[in-house]
Amino acid sequence: MKVVSLFSGCGGLDLGLMKSGHEIIWANDIYKDAAETYRNNIGDHIDERDIREIPSSEIPDCEVVVGGFPCQGFSMANMKRNVEDIRNQLYKEMVRVVKDKQPKFFIGENVKGITSLGKGDVLKQVLSDFEKAGYDIHWKVVCAADYGVPQMRMRLIILGIRKDLLINNVAFPPLETHASKDKESNLKPWLSIGKALSHLPEPTENDQIPNHEYSKYKLRFNGHIGHRRIDPNKPAPTVTGRGDEKGGVVVLHHPNNHRRMSARELAATQSFPDDFIFSGTKTSAYRQVANAVPPLLGKAIGEMLSQNKIEIIEQENIRVTG
Ligand SMILES: C[S@@+](CC[C@H](N)C(=O)[O-])C[C@H]1O[C@@H](n2cnc3c(N)ncnc32)[C@H](O)[C@@H]1O
Repeated sequence: MKVVSLFSGCGGLDLGLMKSGHEIIWANDIYKDAAETYRNNIGDHIDERDIREIPSSEIPDCEVVVGGFPCQGFSMANMKRNVEDIRNQLYKEMVRVVKDKQPKFFIGENVKGITSLGKGDVLKQVLSDFEKAGYDIHWKVVCAADYGVPQMRMRLIILGIRKDLLINNVAFPPLETHASKDKESNLKPWLSIGKALSHLPEPTENDQIPNHEYSKYKLRFNGHIGHRRIDPNKPAPTVTGRGDEKGGVVVLHHPNNHRRMSARELAATQSFPDDFIFSGTKTSAYRQVANAVPPLLGKAIGEMLSQNKIEIIEQENIRVTG
């Protein structure tokens, strides 16, 4: 399907959607380094303006609108959790584009924390605004590890289906491909972080592998996010874009627990392929990686959209032949 992508970042979600056969026809992000990464790895259909300044008439018609609207204000990692945080209001730009473009589907993505913000009132408001744009809404918090990502990343996925489309068996949430070893299931076991990073050599001071720079950062183990011992035999904890006290970002320890991960390793923890190269400084690369939807989760979302599309086509055939 033809997809318009908002808040596209470096393109984690879009890469996954492309891998499942969809075409991204227009993308948008205000973050220069992320847009450059996007352009180099995905395509030059990315617009770098502030979404608030782009009239809907300049955005092409499409079958799907996707967007992981900015989550800092919604994040559980943000201690303030201020309902009035201005960044929270950016979801309204996505509502505006969905309302004006009337795609068949839209996909929203966000942190799990949004479900409890304001005792659930914030999510209720967000969903009601999308519903008023003319959509039936389905939502669920999913775990990225269930889609082959070596990380326990919990994310809210919202699927909107235009109200006039009759679909009998809505495909939602995306079909899981992996499961915990403790669960009785035919799915593959969760991918451990030790295994996911095992093909990458130790970075050296002048490493040839892109984004695989050696980090001199001294490790601390104090139980806080980014300062915990990593179990190589399990999926990693969530990769986060939250800042540290030195103006950088909190970066997970490598599962050898001797050093921090390189941006390349953090990207692998998010299921980016090794040939996806990040532009900008090391800190910027860490931030772009942390902000992203894991491409493998994006791929599962794309496959779910294709299932629903098939159902629509069948419905349309029934209408014509019947
Ligand atoms: C959570 S990230 C989305 C990441 C993306 N979905 C991916 O998979 O890589 C949110 C993005 O919204 C962008 N953003 C924030 N405010 C914006 C604005 N006013 N206009 C356009 N983009 C904006 C940020 O630069 C950031 O890259």
